[in-house]
Amino acid sequence: MTRVLFVCLGNICRSPSAEAVLRAKAPDLTVDSAGTSDWHVGSPPYGPAIEAGSARGYDLSPLRARQVRESDFSDFDWILAMDDQNLSDLRALAPSDASAELSLFLEFARGTEARAVPDPYYTRDFEGALDLIEQAADGFLAELLKASAP
Ligand code: 4NP
Repeated sequence: MTRVLFVCLGNICRSPSAEAVLRAKAPDLTVDSAGTSDWHVGSPPYGPAIEAGSARGYDLSPLRARQVRESDFSDFDWILAMDDQNLSDLRALAPSDASAELSLFLEFARGTEARAVPDPYYTRDFEGALDLIEQAADGFLAELLKASAP
C-alpha cells in the first residue's frame, strides 16, 4: 500500500487540498499532509481553501494541521512538497535513515512548466492552485500505475 504525505508551509491551504484531491482520486492510498511550520497546528484548513475544494467535490473540512515529524520520513513512501522552500526544509529535517522518497509534487504534473504550487494564502488564486494539484495528482497516479505494471 502506497503511503503519501503532502507538505507545505502552513498545512492549511496547499497540502490539505492535495490530500483531499488525492484521497478522492485514489481512496485506497494512505494519504496525509503536514506543514514545515507549527503556525497552524490543530487548526482546520483555511476557509477559502475548504470552499474552493468543496465546489469541486473535495472535502477538506475534517482535516487538522500538524507539523512534519521525524517519523514521517519512515512512515511514508512519498513526501511531496509544494514548493522549493518546502523541499529544502524537508531535506534539512530528514534523518539519515529516511526511507521516504522526497520530490516536488509538480514534478508529476503533465502540461505545466510550473515547479511550485503558488501559495493561494498570498496569491488568492485558489482555483489555479487546485488546477495544478489535480494535474499533479493525475500524473502521480499514472506513475504509480506504471511502476506497478508487470
Ligand atoms: P500553505 O499556505 O503553506 O499552503 O498552508 C500558508 C498558510 C498560512 C501561512 C503561510 C502559508 N501563514 O503565514 O500563516
